[in-house]
Amino acid sequence: MFKKLAISAVFALTLAPVALQASGGGEQHIEDFAFSFEGPFGAYDQNQLQRGLQVYTEVCSACHGMKLVPIRSLSDEGGLGMPEDQVRAYAAENFEMFDADLDDFRPATPVDNFPRNDDAGAPDLSLMAKARAGFHGPYGLGINQMFKGMGGAEYIASLLDGYTGHEKEEAGVTLYENTAFPGSWISMAPPLFDEAVEFADGHSNSVRDMSQDVSAFLMWAAEPKMMARKQAGFVGVLMLTILSVLLYLTNKRIWAPIKGKKKA
Ligand code: HEC
Repeated sequence: MFKKLAISAVFALTLAPVALQASGGGEQHIEDFAFSFEGPFGAYDQNQLQRGLQVYTEVCSACHGMKLVPIRSLSDEGGLGMPEDQVRAYAAENFEMFDADLDDFRPATPVDNFPRNDDAGAPDLSLMAKARAGFHGPYGLGINQMFKGMGGAEYIASLLDGYTGHEKEEAGVTLYENTAFPGSWISMAPPLFDEAVEFADGHSNSVRDMSQDVSAFLMWAAEPKMMARKQAGFVGVLMLTILSVLLYLTNKRIWAPIKGKKKA
């Protein structure tokens, strides 16, 4: 039984990646960016998330909605941690909501979610960082995600930074060559260019850096409770470790008289 299991495990680990690489679009290139939230003790970088929000707001939201993310969650601890009055001002300044009662548009408030946006036929970004985590891991196994954190955020950053500059037209649609996109040709025009966004703290606004900022932000959008989850996991492991030690000692104690007798 064990032998069979071992053989199939070895088979899966050695041959599966080869098979997957052979079947998938082999040219796709996902870079292993070092995000602050990777690993068991990683945490979101609050400043990076705030820069990412700015990139999303000023660039991506023109085409992409984020309808599942409540605006008020921008003030959550462990995420962007923005003060509530800033969140209120941000919502009112940047988004308008259609209000059925007023039969008109009104400025957004923190109780609203980010708006949806179907105008450009672009997918909603609320869960994109998680949706792409499973399918675009470079070697197809979840193991990379566990150890290196190569997942949705890496994919999105590689996508935004992966334009080659070549384009072609197919059936009236312009397609842009991209080294991270499966199939290499995407209909999203390169959304970022150097200095597209001006950060208040003067942080680097190269395409490469902004790609990582907005990807970290989208990871947060898809998984806002990651920090709490990691913390709960850590406490759980700690408690189980203590419990194991206690059980081991108790077990020794309970059996001590009998084991002792045998030896004698
Ligand atoms: C001018 C409109 C436009 C802008 C601006 C834009 N996008 Fe897109 N985006 C699209 C369209 C259209 C698609 C669908 C492309 C396709 O499937 O060929 C898309 C697809 C995507 C995808 C999904 C790719 C996949 O694997 O299916 C991601 C991720 C994405 N965009 C991220 C962003 C980010 C982040 C920004 C801001 C930096 C941004 N987009 C700005 C139009 C836009």
